[in-house]
Amino acid sequence: MVSLSLSQVRALDIQLPPETGAFKQDPAAEIANAQCLICHSVEYVTMQPPMPRPFWKSSIQKMQQKYGAPIPDGQVEQLADYLARNYGLMTNTASAPSTAASSQAPANPTSVAGTTDGLQLATRYGCFGCHNTTQKIVGPAYRDIAAKYKSDADALSKIDLQIHKGGSGKWGPVIMPPFPQMTAAETKVLAEWILGLK
Ligand code: HEC
Ligand code: HEC
Repeated sequence: MVSLSLSQVRALDIQLPPETGAFKQDPAAEIANAQCLICHSVEYVTMQPPMPRPFWKSSIQKMQQKYGAPIPDGQVEQLADYLARNYGLMTNTASAPSTAASSQAPANPTSVAGTTDGLQLATRYGCFGCHNTTQKIVGPAYRDIAAKYKSDADALSKIDLQIHKGGSGKWGPVIMPPFPQMTAAETKVLAEWILGLK
């Protein structure tokens, strides 16, 4: 009995998945990695309390409808299954104490404070058409940009310039178009958001 409860305590200690930057291993994880890491990191999912399938399904639909996530309709059910299986009530209640179970029904899923304005601006201005947070597509990954500017005191103004004027030659021959319509306040939010990515 004693050893059982000790191991339960241990299991609770290590309940949070390690920060791997990817979705939990599962045959369908590939789809989640491909569809859900375009605009934001996996923490947006892992920071939610365990949620049932309908929550995950509507969350996926919200990404499609509100933010324009290019998720093929045929993958919505698979993704909902995957998320419910790995980040759902079933998975987590199986080993968790009853207090964490059904009674909790959290009304306000956590969002990652401070990062949402940049994310929303980047979504609104179509930055994700060419940039991904973690992987190079047409333009460099935002994480790589953050790494490049890590100890550059002029990073904010250089990024502001890139967004307003566009440019090329820093990452390759491909040209980034200018966004002259953005306000200085908006480019600042975007630059700070990009530089804050890890
Ligand atoms: C086109 C960009 C985009 C893609 C692709 C995307 N998301 Fe999001 N997601 C957002 C934005 C923007 C927010 C921020 C909303 C906020 O904080 O106000 C967000 C927030 C979230 C949140 C936090 C809670 C909420 O609803 O705001 C969850 C959970 C989430 N996304 C899950 C997913 C999952 C799962 C996928 C893959 C099926 C995905 N996202 C793909 C843009 C995207
Ligand atoms: C049509 C594709 C495209 C779009 C849309 C786009 N970018 Fe880029 N972006 C690029 C390319 C290509 C580069 C690399 C340019 C270079 O080599 O100098 C780049 C580079 C960058 C850099 C790095 C600048 C540097 O000094 O190293 C930042 C920051 C950036 N983009 C932010 C954004 C933001 C924010 C948006 C949305 C407002 C955006 N991009 C939209 C293609 C794009």
